[in-house]
Amino acid sequence: MTTQSSSSPSAPSFLREAQLTWQHRTTTEYRSSQILTRFLSESLAASDPAEVHAVILDLIADELEHVRLCESVCRDLGVTPTRPSKLELNDPVQFTQAPARERALHTAITMMLINETVSVGFIQDLEARCQTPSIKRVLTATLGDESAHEQFGYDYVKRGLAHYGPIALNDFRHLVALALAPHEGGARRALQNVPEEKCTLEAWPDTQRISLGLFSPERQALVYQRTYREVLAPKLLALGLIAATS
Ligand SMILES: [Fe+2]
Ligand SMILES: [Fe+2]
Repeated sequence: MTTQSSSSPSAPSFLREAQLTWQHRTTTEYRSSQILTRFLSESLAASDPAEVHAVILDLIADELEHVRLCESVCRDLGVTPTRPSKLELNDPVQFTQAPARERALHTAITMMLINETVSVGFIQDLEARCQTPSIKRVLTATLGDESAHEQFGYDYVKRGLAHYGPIALNDFRHLVALALAPHEGGARRALQNVPEEKCTLEAWPDTQRISLGLFSPERQALVYQRTYREVLAPKLLALGLIAATS
């Protein structure tokens, strides 16, 4: 571990948590750049319009920049940035053998639509409250890009679904349920012992954590639930990817 620089944020009681969290964020941004690179080849093989390919190239550049930004926070916090433990993407055979158009739509639904929307909800909540300049700068830069990615994902999925009939739509609904399950399960576990009256954002101000761009598990779960309810579920509903009763 390197020595913490003089410009490092304070709140030493959460320093270890911050080091691990920002290392994890570095690996997820790295993974995002890999998945989007795969998405570009899927989109090329699906013969999407040239302007779509140009946008995906920009998105890859954004994600690589996010890796660099998270790495800079890791160094400020006194730790070495990390890479995913398995560097190569390990896609299941059912995925790699599917037609390119289907794989592209699969990636757009799981990563661009679902994960980006959830990420934007998280980053918005952190960015609005964090006052540590070095951390806020990273959150602000990332937020602007991820919001654009989220919108591109929605538009891509909407166009892509138009190629499929009701039977395929059921398969895509199943995919959505699988992609949401880890988010839902994580939020449920974080809140399982929290009394009803404490299931509000005001009950979890995370006063110390926020200076390092961190969430308590409880606040993160509540932000996820709010993002799902107010942003993601309406989008999925509009696309026919969840039933009206969910
Ligand atoms: Fe990113
Ligand atoms: Fe992104």
